Amino acid sequence: MTKNFYITTPIYYPSAKPHMGHAYSSIIADFFARFKRIDGFDVNFLTGTDEHGLKIQRAAEKKGSDTLKFCDEISKTFRDLSKTLNLTNTDFIRTTEDRHKKSVQNLWKELENNDAIYLSKYSGWYSVSDEAFYSNDEIEELNGSKVAKSSKSPVEWMDEESYFFRLSKWEKKLLDYYEKNPDFISPKSRKNEVISFVKSGLKDLSVSRKSFSWGIPVPNNKEHVIYVWLDALTNYISALNYPDTNNQMYKDFWPASVHLIGKDILRFHAVYWPAFLLAAKLPLPKKVYGHGWILSGEEKMSKSKGNILDPIEIIDRYGLDPLRYYLIKEVSFGNDGNISQEKLEDCINSDLANNFGNLCQRVTAFAIKNCNGLIPKKIKFDKKDLEILDKFKSNLEIIRNKIDNQDINFYTDFIVKSLFETNKYFNDQEPWNKKDDILRLNTIIYTTLEIVRKISFMLYPIIPESSLNALKIFSIEEKEINFSSINNHNYLKEGDKINKIDILFKKIEKKND
Ligand code: ME8
Ligand code: MG
Repeated sequence: MTKNFYITTPIYYPSAKPHMGHAYSSIIADFFARFKRIDGFDVNFLTGTDEHGLKIQRAAEKKGSDTLKFCDEISKTFRDLSKTLNLTNTDFIRTTEDRHKKSVQNLWKELENNDAIYLSKYSGWYSVSDEAFYSNDEIEELNGSKVAKSSKSPVEWMDEESYFFRLSKWEKKLLDYYEKNPDFISPKSRKNEVISFVKSGLKDLSVSRKSFSWGIPVPNNKEHVIYVWLDALTNYISALNYPDTNNQMYKDFWPASVHLIGKDILRFHAVYWPAFLLAAKLPLPKKVYGHGWILSGEEKMSKSKGNILDPIEIIDRYGLDPLRYYLIKEVSFGNDGNISQEKLEDCINSDLANNFGNLCQRVTAFAIKNCNGLIPKKIKFDKKDLEILDKFKSNLEIIRNKIDNQDINFYTDFIVKSLFETNKYFNDQEPWNKKDDILRLNTIIYTTLEIVRKISFMLYPIIPESSLNALKIFSIEEKEINFSSINNHNYLKEGDKINKIDILFKKIEKKND
């Protein structure tokens, strides 16, 4: 059985530098990529920037920059952010790269060959900010100007010759596909909005523009550039060297396991993209997961609203792992969430410093003093020890399954609960009162260390650097981490050295403490 896993983030518009919303999608994708990797999968993890279209052309004009130079600069800030966020992406694609252009033009030709595209004329509303067409009933008046109801971004009237994709033809096929593949659109709460949009009747989609030039030219008609969404969505296969469908990357990783996106771009991924693929006779991705928004107050955080929070500022102040922990654990996955400094500080103090950091310090300090700094020899688990150890064994398959259903909350709850129980176990077992019963003392310490090891493995996808710091206790290195070993109660080798480690998390002093 091949164990391949392909996860993607949206490719972000380099119209302005990244904000917390972009960091959020990328960190969540990294969580899944790391989890799958420590669970034995070969992981392909793609992110990048979406650089064509009027939105980018206008943003560059506004700065008085050459468009490509403008993209180079801002795309680099996204690439740099990937490093700052400690992402393990295996590729970073830019839609201005030749490999991508070639791929998009080939897809276009394939669509033309399959009679999926025809030339006509588009008149209707267009939002440059969303790079999306809206029908009359999808727009409203706001402060005297016309905006899209869903995003509140301004729309302008467009009237030009355009190529169309026969989207209407795929209505029934798409509905069948959603029905046969009930997890294709996730979470469940997002599915109905897509289904009712498709049921309301799909119109053919304008897929080229004539009035500006910043895009990939339509093959055989240089007066048109390809619609930026048809261009952008193709990134998921151009990074696998499409149209060469016989190459190993494509064979190993297409169809993608999951396109992770924000719910703002669900329609493009759950309707247009599968329709393009169906028309090109290519397999469809296994899942499109539309997560919620990071809010600023009550509103979606976004460049166009100017209400953004810079992830770099938070990282400078609190460190990366606390931010990763907060976004993964505290924002209920699938729903909208807020970033509150207060709650972030609580996370650091209670979960990270107290529950995890302290446990690591206490047990290692005790073992160094009372077990010669070695993993204890001669142990004998009793009921209490097995009870706490067995929870990992009995949950192993459940956790895998929950992760495959993107149930991050289950995963983080399991860790927090385990930490709480382990601290309680250590206190209740009172190893400090067992100095005349070495077998018992050794067993308590071994059990606690084993759980620290298991939990550090499980924390790796969330807070990789801190997890690796904790694993220095056992001299365990990154490549040795594997999820399947959390059910092994005897992983730690008796007699191996226990290392003292630095404080993992500094507590934040709060004003009202
Ligand atoms: O839409 N909360 O790019 P984009 C959570 N180029 N996630 C957020 C967010 C927020 N407040 N703001 C942005 C595009 N995101 C297209 C995508 S894909 C083929 C092309 C995240 O720069 C979220 O993942 O507007 C959202 O879908 C994406 O950034 C939109 O980024
Ligand atoms: Mg956007």
